[in-house]
Amino acid sequence: SKNEVIQEIKNASIDTINNKITKCNRCRLCETRKNVVPGIGCKSPLVLVIGEGPGYEEDLKGEPFVGPAGQLLDKMLAAIQLSRNSNTYIANIVKCRPPQNRIPYPEEADACISFLQAQIVALKPKMILCAGSTAAKNILKSPLGVTKLRGNFYEYSNIPVCVTYHPSALL
Ligand code: URA
Repeated sequence: SKNEVIQEIKNASIDTINNKITKCNRCRLCETRKNVVPGIGCKSPLVLVIGEGPGYEEDLKGEPFVGPAGQLLDKMLAAIQLSRNSNTYIANIVKCRPPQNRIPYPEEADACISFLQAQIVALKPKMILCAGSTAAKNILKSPLGVTKLRGNFYEYSNIPVCVTYHPSALL
């Protein structure tokens, strides 16, 4: 059951958690994915970036933010001295690509969120950056849009959270 998986992976290393994620069949997205995209980056990050879900290229490679949005994200991060190679981890609300890059259904996000929670426990980021409204809505449970949420700090399991535009929305 979902609770047994949560129990099994809480206190686990990020590698153990990500291995578990790779085998997940909890929602219908497993039927259409090519690869699972658990996340990538520094294992003791200053910042955890949370996106929405894998797109076409991410699904092909099994890595988050490797397509056009990823190239812009890397530039946005570089502007504030962040990179996935040094001090940042990058993950998504859902770990499998929604067909046609649609927004994940609430039941898909709900099925996947305990994996992100386990990743947060393992990574202990100093800060969380929600990229776009899907991440912001699922993490902050606020009805407000990104434009109103950005520019302030919030909190998720005692970790400061801020919100910015999704790089895809900027492109
Ligand atoms: N958009 C996202 O939200 N996540 C990715 O990994 C790639 C594009």
